[in-house]
Amino acid sequence: MISAAPAFGLNLPDYPWEAMAPYVAKASEHQGGVVNLSIGTPVDPTPQLIREALTGAADAHGYPTVHGTEALREAVSNWFANRRGVPGIDPRDIMPTVGSKELVAWLPFLLGLSAGDVVVRPTVAYPTYDIGAMLAGATAIAADSLDELDSATRARVRLIWINSPGNPTGSVRDVESLRQIVAQAREIGAVVASDECYAELGWGEWDAQRGGEAVPSVLDPRVTGGSMDGLLCVYSLSKQSNLAGYRAAFVAGDSSIVANLVNSRKHAGMIVPYPVQEAMRAALGDAGHVLAQKDLYRGRRERLLPALQNFGLELHESKAGLYLWSTAGEATWDTVQRFADLGIVVGPGVFYGDAGNGFIRVALTGTDERIDAAVERLNAAR
Ligand SMILES: Cc1ncc(COP(=O)(O)O)c(C=O)c1O
Repeated sequence: MISAAPAFGLNLPDYPWEAMAPYVAKASEHQGGVVNLSIGTPVDPTPQLIREALTGAADAHGYPTVHGTEALREAVSNWFANRRGVPGIDPRDIMPTVGSKELVAWLPFLLGLSAGDVVVRPTVAYPTYDIGAMLAGATAIAADSLDELDSATRARVRLIWINSPGNPTGSVRDVESLRQIVAQAREIGAVVASDECYAELGWGEWDAQRGGEAVPSVLDPRVTGGSMDGLLCVYSLSKQSNLAGYRAAFVAGDSSIVANLVNSRKHAGMIVPYPVQEAMRAALGDAGHVLAQKDLYRGRRERLLPALQNFGLELHESKAGLYLWSTAGEATWDTVQRFADLGIVVGPGVFYGDAGNGFIRVALTGTDERIDAAVERLNAAR
């Protein structure tokens, strides 16, 4: 539903998650308590070393820098080299952001897009890509390749969002697929912004801790051909480090775009608080907690997935990230209702675009105890 145009304020769609209230209410009636697997909000504690870095920087009487401290940007550059196969990023080409969501929402505007411009976003996608296009007055179009667009539309494309590993589908783009979309973007002079916040959470063929390949970044030299022109990598520590409440993320890539974003944000006041910058620096320097957290999610995934399949769901993609993207071959809301009857709240696929109809998104962000409760209920209901 679109609200009537307000006299003051933006004419954005109603926030879709409000529609979940009746299903949450129904699921909460379950005598074993609700199992909420609808939102990908971390449930495990923020690691101690990150908390200590935050509190150790509690004396923050001066303004923080928009561009981030040199030490933080070096930590990000080292993280790209050590964890993402992207060596040698100049720390000047990195900027912290107040979580990724704000950057996703404001990037088209900050890039200077306006009416007539097209933002391409994945066919089934995190909804904020569309909101960002709306905030700039641009048009969002759902496509996974520019081949899906006619030539007139293609000529208007100025920004292409890719999301690998994807939310909600968990699909992963390999090096070749990244290389193709980057080449297509470069042909038409569009920016590619790659939202990669689930990159450390690959499973199966993408599980680097189990003999798989690491999920590639858009800034990987095999993709860029040695030039980061027109490319941005957007990354968040919310998921991998249980930092969603800190609002800790960053963007890196094309020098002139990052410099322009830094300048605009100096004027606009979008600054990551200094204690959070310090917490990010500590988090990025420690792979141990990320791997331990990944082990927890792997265990939850391995328990939940067979229970969903036994319950009649078919898994699609879900090769990385925090979600099991699945379908029972019926309308989304019927499946959401059947789960609510079992005291389990799941995310409706329709929130991620028309192509999500028939699907649900089941998050791995439940405690072990809650995941086990869900497994027990699904197995009993089968
Ligand atoms: C694909 C994607 N991008 C961005 C975000 C936002 O992350 P943050 O917590 O940094 O705002 C999310 C969060 O769910 C996401 O799934």
